[in-house]
Amino acid sequence: MNDMFKPDEEIINLTELREAEEDVGRNPSDNPTMGDIINRRFSRRGFLGGSLAVTAIATTVSPLALMIADEARAEGMSAFSFTEVEAGVDETHHVAEGYDADVLLRWGDKVFADSPDFDPMNQTAESQSKQFGYNNDYVGFIPLDGADDHGLLVVNHEYTNAELMFPNWATIGKDGEGKDKVMMGEFTKDIVDIEMAAHGGTVIEIRKQDGKWMPVLDGKMNRRLHVGTEMALTGPAAGHDRLKTNADTSGTKVFGTLNNCAGGVTPWGTWLMAEENFHGYFIGELPEGHPEAVNYKRYGAPAGWYNWGTHHDRFDVSKEPNEPNRFGWVVEVDPMDPNSVPKKRTALGRMKHEGAESVVNKDGRVVFYCGDDERFDYVYKFVTSAAYNPDDRAANMDLLDDGILYVARFDADGTVDWMPLVHGEGPLNADNGFMSQADVVIEARRAGDLLGATRMDRPEDVQPNAMTGKVYCMLTNNTRRKEGDENAANPRANNAFGHIIEISETDGDFASTKSTWEILLKCGDPAVAEVGASFSSATTTNGWFGMPDNCAIDADGRLWVSTDGNSEKRTGRTDGLWAVDTDGDARATSKLFFRVPVGAEMCGPLFDPTGETVFLAVQHPGDEGLATYEQPATRWPDFRDDMPVRPAVVAVTKQGGGKIGMA
Ligand code: FEO
Ligand code: CA
Ligand code: CA
Repeated sequence: MNDMFKPDEEIINLTELREAEEDVGRNPSDNPTMGDIINRRFSRRGFLGGSLAVTAIATTVSPLALMIADEARAEGMSAFSFTEVEAGVDETHHVAEGYDADVLLRWGDKVFADSPDFDPMNQTAESQSKQFGYNNDYVGFIPLDGADDHGLLVVNHEYTNAELMFPNWATIGKDGEGKDKVMMGEFTKDIVDIEMAAHGGTVIEIRKQDGKWMPVLDGKMNRRLHVGTEMALTGPAAGHDRLKTNADTSGTKVFGTLNNCAGGVTPWGTWLMAEENFHGYFIGELPEGHPEAVNYKRYGAPAGWYNWGTHHDRFDVSKEPNEPNRFGWVVEVDPMDPNSVPKKRTALGRMKHEGAESVVNKDGRVVFYCGDDERFDYVYKFVTSAAYNPDDRAANMDLLDDGILYVARFDADGTVDWMPLVHGEGPLNADNGFMSQADVVIEARRAGDLLGATRMDRPEDVQPNAMTGKVYCMLTNNTRRKEGDENAANPRANNAFGHIIEISETDGDFASTKSTWEILLKCGDPAVAEVGASFSSATTTNGWFGMPDNCAIDADGRLWVSTDGNSEKRTGRTDGLWAVDTDGDARATSKLFFRVPVGAEMCGPLFDPTGETVFLAVQHPGDEGLATYEQPATRWPDFRDDMPVRPAVVAVTKQGGGKIGMA
């Protein structure tokens, strides 16, 4: 979800307006800024080259592919081979020549054999709860039976755009200054309940037949999760008084998950759904003098983006003041058991979780990386206490309840300190209101403030590369960073286009508490000197991008980046998927592989283990300008007058077979 708007900027769509209108969680800390180093160059190739010996760990990559890739990199050539797409803006998607992009699942599609057909003029919560949800974001793939052509697709449905979903509902009116504005219809209980059923996630079996992926509607594990699904709270905060409500006096049982942005699939085949902008779902005012006031202010709750609290008391903090403490977690789902109770793993901290991508460390412990997506918030990692057991799936099922959460401080000398958020250590004690580890995880942001974590430019996806010991951190943008407020890891004031940081975990030890970092890429148009972008000179006018958001490492260890916030007005291009070289002379060369239709952002991306398919989530297509159900900016993907624009997951494969982006 895009929130790059600031008051003196023109907004692109309602999605941006929603976040901009609220005073979202502000980071009040004055953790160090380094105005004196803003003119420094931050390329640390020399420094790193001498200080790091990265150990490759076990992967599934083929030795031949690695050899070919290594040779190409040694010659200064790109690791990618495909004909670049032309950047631009129009009503449909575009993929590199020689590839097919097939729509696999659209909002409203059946998830079960007995799901009702999508009938946009007669939507109900009951139908929606059996159909593919709205605004697909994270996509994960879990192979079944060890096969290449058969598995479970797990998909997050982050949020809803009511003005694009409901017919005869939103209209165009005037704002206070007489400008045209989308006016929302009435949020009746029926509308709210459909919204709640369209959130959450989908598990669906898919199979490749004649080279094309198809949903298997009678798949035994198919499941829809939504705001009515029962979940458990586990880990250090479970059962704490701050999590108790009228409906749940145990503090361990909660209904639903919401604003599930990116996520991850664990080494043991469970699905992680990251709860991001939970603050937007609450209305009302806390009772005078309520003890959660400081906590909620730090997270910007309640922000009132949705009117659920009008019909469901728990989303009104005046009636149920502890409910916001039950959201903002990483949720673990066992997709192999459709009756399993998903678990909110409080050990990973409460924040606006973007995602939770992981890697098995060389000592067997598992390391999860998390970005807290807000201007000036932090990058985290969680290291499990126990090692992953590849031979006993059941033994891993509660690994996420016990471990250490760290927050990152990026220093100007190129080191990153991972600082533990452990109760009783340093300032995380009763003097500062932290009575236990429960308080630390519930207020992870405030704990990070006290430890002096580095205030970042909106951390999104953070992705480890198991083959290299590197970790890629997407910083999407921060136009509220002022001159003089820069720091080494966030070197641009008014950072409209974002950047990518590459962390090198020391000796390939992902559990390391002291590592190094450098900036891989400062984004934006390299032809405009004031932007200060740092794409390689081999990057074409189609190849650069702004606002990196999600990313993926493919089966050959190559980095792919997807974006959120490009548009005709900002960058002369839609969002899309770009291939980004990280090694050799080609480092920081980017190439456009896929672009979305107007109004959309690009989520996913996810490569299957063979590297022959990339699943891409086209989120909020048509959401541009004064778009409504009747007047979307496009009617992708159906292009039928009787069908609304629909978010959808697309499967991209090479014509005739073979790996994506390889000759
Ligand atoms: Fe939901 Fe941070 O994007
Ligand atoms: Ca995102
Ligand atoms: Ca990712």
